[in-house]
Amino acid sequence: MFTKRHLVEPGDFTIEEMDRLFDLAKRIEQDQGYLRESCRGKILATLFFEPSTRTRLSFESAMLRLGGTCLGFSEPSSSSVSKGESLADTIRVVSCYADVIVMRNPKEGAALLASRYATVPVINAGDGGHHHPTQTLTDLLTIRQLKGSIGGLTVGFCGDLKFGRTVHSLAKALSRYPAITMIFISPQELRVPCYITEGILKKAEIPYIETHSLEKVIADLDVLYMTRVQRERFFNEEDYIRLKDSYILNREKMDHAQDELIILHPLPRVNEIAPELDEDPRASYFKQAKYGMYVRMALLAAMLGTC
Ligand code: NCD
Repeated sequence: MFTKRHLVEPGDFTIEEMDRLFDLAKRIEQDQGYLRESCRGKILATLFFEPSTRTRLSFESAMLRLGGTCLGFSEPSSSSVSKGESLADTIRVVSCYADVIVMRNPKEGAALLASRYATVPVINAGDGGHHHPTQTLTDLLTIRQLKGSIGGLTVGFCGDLKFGRTVHSLAKALSRYPAITMIFISPQELRVPCYITEGILKKAEIPYIETHSLEKVIADLDVLYMTRVQRERFFNEEDYIRLKDSYILNREKMDHAQDELIILHPLPRVNEIAPELDEDPRASYFKQAKYGMYVRMALLAAMLGTC
């Protein structure tokens, strides 16, 4: 079902397929020995042309826990790309050495291009400001685990909604679930792109609003998805400095939120969530990071056909 396929964007898997992965991830969480040696002899290549902590390490940890091995680079300067090699050639060659490729690249569309040249499955670990489907699997699994199901929720996205690829992927994925309302909270300059609002949500008749005031809407939310301002995608430093602290979630703001709200964040956090909230039972971002590893274990085992 999952073999010989790529994961480039959230729409590549059906809701039923994602449910199978979530069930698998849940089983792995409950029984740490489950699938332990299932990927013995398999090799994962992690090609990171952009910085990463969680995504790369959680994929590597996932593969090692499944009994497989990992190779790759975390700095493009240590690969032949720095000698001018094309992405297509890099991918053709790495396909000879690995059974599955996880790639992050600053260019939108790079993962799609890689999938066209690879002879093994390619998993997009972020292509510029475009998509980040495995973070979306992580986010959806976390919501399902903590809220019981993914439908019927009001989800607030706050921060850099223009460049935040995790927001684009999650909004697109959530638009396929029943009775979801989305609230986009950002400064004018960092509004969510029209291809999401007009192109996806309006067409699917998903109710949404855009606002710049977190205070006004926080009481309505079941899920609050905070994001950092994506400094590396700004054209100039002054704009970044002006916008970077647009939203800082703290105790005072959380006093107005529901007791059952969950706060998510793909991490890394900069200033947008005050550390004083880490002890708040609603703060779920570190649990989310852990679910990321379980869902990547499920994904690798499924894509390699070992479960
Ligand atoms: C996110 C990313 O790379 O888009 N990080 C991650 O993968 N967990 C979010 C971010 O960098 O802000």
